Amino acid sequence: MTALQIALAGYLAFGQPTGNYYEAITKHSGLQVIHADGAVTLRLRESGREEKTADGAKTVVVRLKDERYPFEMTRYVKTWGDCDVVETWSELKHGESGPVRLVRADSFAAPVAVTSETVRVMALTGKACNEAHVSYSTVGNGQIAELVSSAGTRNAWEANASMMVEFGEGVGEECGKVLGVALEWPGTSSRRVRRNWDGSVTEVFAGVDMTTGPYTLDPGVTFTTPKAVLVWSENGRGEISRQYHRWAHRHLMPHGYDLHPVLLNSWEGAYFSFTEKTLTDMMDGVKEMGGEMFVLDDGWFGRGKHARDEKNKAKAGLGDWYVNTVKLPHGLGWLADEAEKRGLKFGLWVEPEMANTRSWLAESHPEWILREEGRSLIRGRGKTQVVLDFTNPAVRDALFGQLDAVYSAIPSLAYVKWDCNANIWNPGSTFLAADRQPNLWYDYARGYCELMERFQSKRPHIMTQACASGGGRMDFGSLRYADEFWPSDCTDPYRRVFIQWGCSQFYPASAMACHVTASPNHQTKRETPLKYRFDVAMCGRLGFELHPKNMTKDEVSFAKTAVSDYKRIRPVVQCGDLYRLVSPYDKPLSSLMYADEAKNAAVLFALGLKIDGGRTEVLKLRGLDPKATYSVKEINCGAMLHASLPADGMTGADLMEKGIAVSLSGDYDSAVFDIRRMVWDR
Ligand code: GLA
Repeated sequence: MTALQIALAGYLAFGQPTGNYYEAITKHSGLQVIHADGAVTLRLRESGREEKTADGAKTVVVRLKDERYPFEMTRYVKTWGDCDVVETWSELKHGESGPVRLVRADSFAAPVAVTSETVRVMALTGKACNEAHVSYSTVGNGQIAELVSSAGTRNAWEANASMMVEFGEGVGEECGKVLGVALEWPGTSSRRVRRNWDGSVTEVFAGVDMTTGPYTLDPGVTFTTPKAVLVWSENGRGEISRQYHRWAHRHLMPHGYDLHPVLLNSWEGAYFSFTEKTLTDMMDGVKEMGGEMFVLDDGWFGRGKHARDEKNKAKAGLGDWYVNTVKLPHGLGWLADEAEKRGLKFGLWVEPEMANTRSWLAESHPEWILREEGRSLIRGRGKTQVVLDFTNPAVRDALFGQLDAVYSAIPSLAYVKWDCNANIWNPGSTFLAADRQPNLWYDYARGYCELMERFQSKRPHIMTQACASGGGRMDFGSLRYADEFWPSDCTDPYRRVFIQWGCSQFYPASAMACHVTASPNHQTKRETPLKYRFDVAMCGRLGFELHPKNMTKDEVSFAKTAVSDYKRIRPVVQCGDLYRLVSPYDKPLSSLMYADEAKNAAVLFALGLKIDGGRTEVLKLRGLDPKATYSVKEINCGAMLHASLPADGMTGADLMEKGIAVSLSGDYDSAVFDIRRMVWDR
């Protein structure tokens, strides 16, 4: 079986005759509508099918028409020759006498023809500072498992827009039948898996969440579902992850396989308290350690009484994207020049979708704020944070104009961290008509994508990070316009081991921003060694989030070596194939490795958790050439080695069959190994 076959197997629409005496029409469906005249069923018949080829991709287009109503569905199923991933989505359009209400409009809704005794659903669920926990449910016969993310903005927290459906017992990293289902969608979404009474049929659904109310679709207007991204594996979860990573690099992320820079972000090192000197000192510090970019986080904007300064902190300024010249008298262009003088690139934090009620924008345009008429406004951070109405093009234009002016003043701007720190708690829009209020959730997400795209196409060289109070925007929808996520506001490496393990199930390592921060950790107060903080952060896109002046000389010297080691392994980590070896959910350590496609280089990580009195674990590698000889060198370790390794290297077969015995000495100990094919083997 292939993902393509699964995607082309059909589509479950409400009311479609089944030919089955007891269940004569499809009730559990992915598409359910209320026609203009109030009728509720669909009877779609295929009216045409064609195949289109463009840019190395093949798209099958299936046209369906209702037997009675002028209602059409066009399904798209897209594949590429260089990865086993399928994108599928639909367009819905009608010519009825009035609006049709979409009660459901899933991107994918089909029975999956796999016979198996058990079906389990793996999902990533969580909350702020505790994102992407791997959770499982078993779908019993006659049952439905459902995952909904309904925040409106920070949707990935509650339930990531993805799942793996596992067929049969004993599915593991390298064995078993698994269907990966993810949505290219930053908005609210749902995923369901349903088994019939005897388990002989498993139906899988994924799409926009419509529990917030049906979407009203006018005649002649096209509703496009988000893309569902499907991967099928008969070799376990690992293959699903690798396929998603490959596809994201090749066909999704704006900068594909480009290496992501080692950067220092100012947030945890300064929060709102900084002067120009604080920032240039940070630049000096990160430059000394080998960093490549400086990113100015929150606190640089707002004017007069609404300045986002040390006094107001998060209470004011959002919506007023003008540099605060009291705090930064020389402006952002000057700061970027200071970075450039030191050989660093410059990045900037923004939060375009939000306003504080204490801002000039909110005061002059109260109608631009999402709110329900006659109800008190629910406010978020600082008791003043509200969400702007991104369904309204005028709001998006205004924000584009403000930020475009800011970016124009920084010609060397190389990176933008796009944050989003509130949910849609006041689901009301003055732009949408009274009877279209439920359209808000979908239209908002489309508005966000449209603005992201506009920024991206005007300055395509800029790398964007999608942040939403941490990992609230960890989804492929955001990754189409951004190149990375901030997976969590929790930078405690112990918690990050779990968060990153979850993130890695679908998203590539280059997209996972991982910063070394101070100890004790600001969120959990946990103390961990600097080496551990580095080793955990080196599993993804390494960066810093501290003030280097608070580091000792020894720490700076350790960091210099670690950054230079990271730069050597970076291409393999950021662009290589991931193999997860030991799960932190099974043992008090996590182990994963990356290998390049040519099997010339690999990197092995062993990250201890709470290990009383030490532990030796034999780690059997994967993804190597069994016949080749590899040098194995521990890096980032100072004098204390964690494995005894033969000086003349090891064969790929030995590394994969016998493994390396890695000894971790106690809590938060860790090891990293740089593995290279020895030259004479080439
Ligand atoms: C959010 C982000 C943080 C930081 C702050 C700034 O919480 O997740 O990384 O940027 O906002 O206010």
